[in-house]
Amino acid sequence: MIHVRLATEEDIPRIIELYDDLTITTSQVEKSRSPSLDHYKRVFAEIRSDQRQELLVAEDQGEVVGTLVFLLAPNLSHNGTPWAFLENLIVTKKHRRKGVARSLLEYAVVRAREAGCHKVQLCSGRTREEAHQLYRSLGFEASAYGFRLYF
Ligand SMILES: CC(C)(COP(=O)(O)OP(=O)(O)OC[C@H]1O[C@@H](n2cnc3c(N)ncnc32)[C@H](O)[C@@H]1OP(=O)(O)O)[C@@H](O)C(=O)NCCC(=O)NCCS
Repeated sequence: MIHVRLATEEDIPRIIELYDDLTITTSQVEKSRSPSLDHYKRVFAEIRSDQRQELLVAEDQGEVVGTLVFLLAPNLSHNGTPWAFLENLIVTKKHRRKGVARSLLEYAVVRAREAGCHKVQLCSGRTREEAHQLYRSLGFEASAYGFRLYF
């Protein structure tokens, strides 16, 4: 049974481990740095104090097996209704195709509806076919080009 919840400070090492699998999008400069746990704890404290951001984790039998970031943006267009943005979705290799990502995304979509959002948006690398399948299966449409400027 998959359980989605807000991340706690104790989850930080596990989440960082999961992000290691996303290194395809990490620059060489980033790879050469290895920030301390204290650094990650400070960043996590910022995240927790930001009411518009939620760092989610999915547990399977008490083990953290996936994560997703949910961001809420106040907005003046669309009658002043907010939009939600999703980022950093990843599920550990051993636990894929068990509905973990689906559970995380469904949680985020409910959260966005409850917050009165007019849309939920995300970007996904062109080559991430399995992720595109996932988003389509949940009703997302590939309706825009994504542009990035990496630093
Ligand atoms: C993409 C990813 C998050 C999917 O996580 P997951 O927990 O395995 O996904 P789910 O089990 O919830 O899959 C739900 C649906 O998505 C689709 N899907 C997921 N993985 C798929 C794959 N490898 N091939 C085809 N369809 C896939 C299917 O429709 C699936 O439903 P089904 O299993 O009933 O057929 C995971 O593969 C991952 O972490 N990949 C590396 C990181 C990444 O690409 N993140 C997304 C960045 S945009």
